[in-house]
Amino acid sequence: MKNSNLFFDSDISTEILDNKNIVIIGYGNQGRAQALNLRDSGFNVTVALRNDSPSISKVIEDGLKYGQIDKVICDADIVCLLVPDSEAPKVFNRYIKSHLKEGSALLFSHGYNIHYNLINYPNYVDIIMVAPSGGGAMVRREYSNKSGVPALLAVEQNFTGSGLELVKAYGKAIGSSRVCTFLSTFKEETETDLYGEQVLLTGGIPMMIEKSLKVLLEDGYSPVVAWFVCYYEVKMIVDLFHEKGIEYLYRAISDTARYGGLKVGDYLIDDEYEIKLKKVLSDIKTGEFKKDLEKNIDNKSYTSSINSKHVEEFSNIMNVLFEKNKNS
Ligand SMILES: NC(=O)c1ccc[n+]([C@@H]2O[C@H](COP(=O)([O-])OP(=O)(O)OC[C@H]3O[C@@H](n4cnc5c(N)ncnc54)[C@H](OP(=O)(O)O)[C@@H]3O)[C@@H](O)[C@H]2O)c1
Repeated sequence: MKNSNLFFDSDISTEILDNKNIVIIGYGNQGRAQALNLRDSGFNVTVALRNDSPSISKVIEDGLKYGQIDKVICDADIVCLLVPDSEAPKVFNRYIKSHLKEGSALLFSHGYNIHYNLINYPNYVDIIMVAPSGGGAMVRREYSNKSGVPALLAVEQNFTGSGLELVKAYGKAIGSSRVCTFLSTFKEETETDLYGEQVLLTGGIPMMIEKSLKVLLEDGYSPVVAWFVCYYEVKMIVDLFHEKGIEYLYRAISDTARYGGLKVGDYLIDDEYEIKLKKVLSDIKTGEFKKDLEKNIDNKSYTSSINSKHVEEFSNIMNVLFEKNKNS
C-alpha cells in the first residue's frame, strides 16, 4: 500500500515556486547548497547576508544575487532562515519579524526554534520546514550527481492553505524528492533529530570509538593496530549494512565475528543502556535538554583521552591514506 506521507518527483509540481522571490538568509552549510540547487532548478533566488559578511565573495564567485538582509527581506515570498539555530531567534527579531509580507512563507531546515517556541512569528505567514537528512555539502553534491538527499517536510502554520504544496515543491527543487521526501511535523523532526545525534551520530558512535581505542592503548597494544580495528574498519562495516541492511551484515561476516558480536552486543547494549536511551529521549521531550543547552552550551568541549603521541601516530596513517585516496 502506498504511504500517503511519502512524496517523490513524479508526485510533485513545482509550479507554485514559479515567479516566487526566494530569499536565503545565510550562506553556510545549508544556505549555499539550497541556494545553488534552487538556482540550478530554475528558480529566483537571492542570498541575504549581514553587512560586511565574509561570505559575500563566495556568493559572487558562485554567481548568485545577494543583498543585505534588511534590504531584500521586504520583497521576499519565501524567507529561508538558514543560519545557526542558536542565532536564528536574534536574526528573526532583528531583521525579519517586522518585514514579513502577509501571505509569505518562513522556511526552516530544522524545527528546533519553532518547536521550543523561541521564535514568535506572526499569524499571517506560512511556517514551513524542509529538513534535508544530511549536511549541506552532501545536498549539493548529490544534486549535482542527479540524485538528492531525502528530506522531512512539515507545515506548522498554514495561513495561505498552500503550505503543503510549497514544501513539496521546495523539496523537489533542492533535489530531495529524487530520493524521497516525507511529511512529518516540527515536533517529530526536532525530537528525533536531537535524539539521533545524541545517541548515535555525535554522541554514541564517536564516544564508543574513543573508549574502545583507549582500552586497547592502555593495555599496551600498538596505536596503529588499535586504530585499524577501532577506527578505520568502522566505515567499512557501516557501508556494508547501510547498503544492504543489518541482517545482511550478519550473513556476510565470519561465524566468529557473528557469534562474538551478538554475544558481546547483548552484554554491552543491555537493559541499562535502554533505560539510558529512554532518559535521553524524555529529556528532549520535556524540554530538560533545551534548558541545559541554554545554560551550558559553552561549557562542553571535546577532550580526547587518547594522548598526543597516539594521535600523532594516527594522523600519520591518516595522511598516508588520504594522499593515497587523492592520487587513486
Ligand atoms: N549543518 C548541516 O548541514 C545541517 C543539516 C540539516 C539541517 N540543518 C539546519 O540548517 C540550518 C542552518 O544550519 P547551517 O549548519 O547551514 O548553518 P551555518 O553553516 O552555521 O550558517 C552560517 C551562515 O549563517 C550566517 N549567520 C550566522 N550568524 C548570523 C547572524 N547573527 N546574522 C546573520 N547571519 C548570520 C553566517 O553569516 P556570515 O557568512 O556573515 O558569517 C553564514 O552565512 C539550521 O537550522 C540547521 O539546524 C543543518
